[in-house]
Amino acid sequence: MAEPITLDNEAAMARLRAGLAHRGLAEVEPGPIADEPSPDEPGHPEYHRRRRAEWALKRWTTATPPRYRRADAEHPDVAAWADRVADDPESAGSILLTGTTGTGKTHQAYGALRRIAAAGPHVYEIRAITAADMYGLLRPKGSDRGAEEELRRLTRVPLLLLDDLGSAKASEWTEEVTYRLINERYNACRPSIYTSNLPADSRDEHGQRHGPDLITALGERIVSRLAEDTQVVAMTGHDRRRGVKP
Ligand SMILES: Nc1ncnc2c1ncn2[C@@H]1O[C@H](COP(=O)(O)OP(=O)(O)OP(=O)(O)O)[C@@H](O)[C@H]1O
Ligand SMILES: [Mg+2]
Repeated sequence: MAEPITLDNEAAMARLRAGLAHRGLAEVEPGPIADEPSPDEPGHPEYHRRRRAEWALKRWTTATPPRYRRADAEHPDVAAWADRVADDPESAGSILLTGTTGTGKTHQAYGALRRIAAAGPHVYEIRAITAADMYGLLRPKGSDRGAEEELRRLTRVPLLLLDDLGSAKASEWTEEVTYRLINERYNACRPSIYTSNLPADSRDEHGQRHGPDLITALGERIVSRLAEDTQVVAMTGHDRRRGVKP
């Protein structure tokens, strides 16, 4: 029986080289082995980004009411903000969507959260709540966890949607908790999406107010805090709930 060729057998290796040379293959140097993972394989960044996106989109679906589960951030400013958050949440700042009822603010807001999820971010923890529900939660006996713990959670969540700001009846207390939330998120550079039926500031160049605005509803302090890192996007158009344009 022929002696098996083993790699540590010098004579066998020499015979092998001679055989290869005879066939004109001696000059062929072994090239790098194609063992780099493809985008469909673990180890490739794109593979892991897609897995993160799948997980985040599931998380988004759970957090989103059925009405908004097909929401897309079609508004270019909203889409651009979502891309900035996906890219670098700390520098993205916040966004405030204003506009009359039914113009699609909540739809765009959930659309933005979805777009961020689809980008496959490393962290995707979100909370979506209306301002009215938030005040309910923060009232004495509003939650088993206690108001301070609830406020802490809202402050700490990496991405917050606070819907319908300024629509609940205002008081010194609502102003105080809203200020604390917005201010603490601002200090920690955590992005938020706010929506409101009210314009941020209805004053004209003479300081004349034209109807209610966020300053009258929430107080000057909150609006001036928002002004520091919050992009205002005014949604226009008809009430989509009525279906037809007026
Ligand atoms: N771009 C869109 N494409 C399809 N449907 C939309 C779009 N924008 C909004 N809608 C639908 O129109 C209705 C009103 O939209 P939405 O609830 O976002 O309005 P809103 O501005 O938040 O209103 P409100 O001020 O009363 O809270 C919803 O049923 C929503 O699903
Ligand atoms: Mg809404």
